[in-house]
Amino acid sequence: MAQTATVENPLMLGLPEEKRPEPFALVIFGAHGDLTKRKLLPAIYALYVQNLLPEGFAILGTSRTEKTDQEFRDSMKEAVIKYSEDLEFDEGTWERFAPALYYRAGDSKNLDSYKEMKSTLEELQKSRGTMGNHIFYLSTPPSLYMPIVTKLAESGLAYKRKGSEPAWPRVVVEKPFGHDLPSSIELDSTLHDVLNEHQIYRIDHYLGKETVQNIMCFRFANSIFEPIWNREFIDHIQITSAETIGVEDRGAYYEEAGALRDMLQNHLMQLVALVAMEPPISLDPESTRDERVKVLKAIRPLSPETIDNFSVRGQYGDGFVLGNRAQRYRDEINVSPESSRETFAAMKLYIDNWRWAGVPIYLRSGKRLAKRLTEIAVQFRKPPKQLFDQLGGSIYHEMPKSESPNVLVMKIQPDDGISLKFATKQPGPTTQIRSLTMDFRYGTAFGSRTPSAYERLILDALIGDPSLFARSDFVEASWILYQPLIEHWEKTVPGKSNDKGSEIHHRPFPNYDSGSWGPPESDEMLAIEGHAWREL
Ligand SMILES: NC(=O)c1ccc[n+]([C@@H]2O[C@H](COP(=O)([O-])OP(=O)(O)OC[C@H]3O[C@@H](n4cnc5c(N)ncnc54)[C@H](OP(=O)(O)O)[C@@H]3O)[C@@H](O)[C@H]2O)c1
Repeated sequence: MAQTATVENPLMLGLPEEKRPEPFALVIFGAHGDLTKRKLLPAIYALYVQNLLPEGFAILGTSRTEKTDQEFRDSMKEAVIKYSEDLEFDEGTWERFAPALYYRAGDSKNLDSYKEMKSTLEELQKSRGTMGNHIFYLSTPPSLYMPIVTKLAESGLAYKRKGSEPAWPRVVVEKPFGHDLPSSIELDSTLHDVLNEHQIYRIDHYLGKETVQNIMCFRFANSIFEPIWNREFIDHIQITSAETIGVEDRGAYYEEAGALRDMLQNHLMQLVALVAMEPPISLDPESTRDERVKVLKAIRPLSPETIDNFSVRGQYGDGFVLGNRAQRYRDEINVSPESSRETFAAMKLYIDNWRWAGVPIYLRSGKRLAKRLTEIAVQFRKPPKQLFDQLGGSIYHEMPKSESPNVLVMKIQPDDGISLKFATKQPGPTTQIRSLTMDFRYGTAFGSRTPSAYERLILDALIGDPSLFARSDFVEASWILYQPLIEHWEKTVPGKSNDKGSEIHHRPFPNYDSGSWGPPESDEMLAIEGHAWREL
């Protein structure tokens, strides 16, 4: 097939070579869905506005719903206006962008749809100069991932690319990557039957967040933190991802997934890996991904004896969130009135290596909690000698005396930034200790627009840089860790039979009020170690 020569976008010339995507056609499966309108199209449009896309590109949406190219363009315009949070919409720019959008209705289970897709992509290669480079974005229900990949292979659209071939096919997979260990292995084996690992981009949008990427820069571009980033100086680490919303209209999805699969097994494990990893030997994608995987492999597996002391599940009951009455999970739409699905999960992990031996890492994530925030808090040890205790009386203000005043907090959202807490003397004739915070905030420090996670990740997938994507062995290592817990929770009912011999008193669901910080069991889990969750 003759290839149309493309004129390089002159505005891209200021970018380094490796940051310039080649011409491409991006096929979005599930283009009628929520993710396409809320995240994907706003991100692609933002890349276009910043001149980060090449001259030759096309976006081809597909779903079963019938619509014309023009109807697709109109609906995507509406979505871009609605969901592009901090990008001013410009009609002229949209008019130049919109002709790159196309739509073909089709059932992704049906091979004929792929034959039509192939001829459309051939036409686009000629008319839009996409040069035969194809990136397939799977934004459908997860049950379609394997059929789509298989049919892409059967129709010749996806294949293992040999180094000498000029054009490339790539596949972007949305989470969840399987439902448990066996299903994730099955999905992975289907992907690897069709594609090489470097052609597979598993999205964990946490890795696309600027603050999450900054964890590595903070640790390895500075010299003052790394010498104390270990068991000698760090007492424990708390990772919290809290939402104030409930399951909203996603009851059916949540009944299947729950907090463990939705948050802990993927997003929070990426945060654990970044905070605990060793410095990579270089910034090439595989070196950094190697180090992330090593962390997961060093985590102590859950054993039947410890599982109920190392994990807590919760489900929200009635209550008030930010002053508004909230109903219990079991009354949500598409949720069973007897559901035992967890809307809160907390865990204690130990990384059994030289750096982290004996340092507990606590994870918690839940819905309908008191505040929306995601953060990593690194709690340093107390000074070896409690000098100021000698003064007697209550000298500590706003500070738990039992813990060191030094906490380093990486705020992932909202108010992204980093803060460091330290103790200081309050001015006055007596020695009164107060805790103060040094704060860095992205919003105020740089004053420039922060790209969305999807913007960064879609650009990286177009460039062919997999650094910020989950590699096959990472996903598997994470499922290996969580599989015993998944099985244990499936076999047992909270508060009935599963807490014999447990130091934590596991109560029946619902076990926390909407608007609280989760079930008391989660506090008990930390209390066993003499710790407490940070008051947020
Ligand atoms: N939404 C999010 O914020 C989010 C976040 C993280 C991950 N994800 C993942 O991303 C994926 C998409 O999520 P979503 O929220 O966009 O889901 P969604 O709103 O349900 O959209 C999926 C789309 O797939 C299409 N579809 C279903 N069956 C099809 C078939 N047989 N052939 C062709 N198209 C079919 C449907 O359109 P038609 O009815 O027109 O076919 C539907 O609009 C899911 O795997 C989800 O887990 C989503």
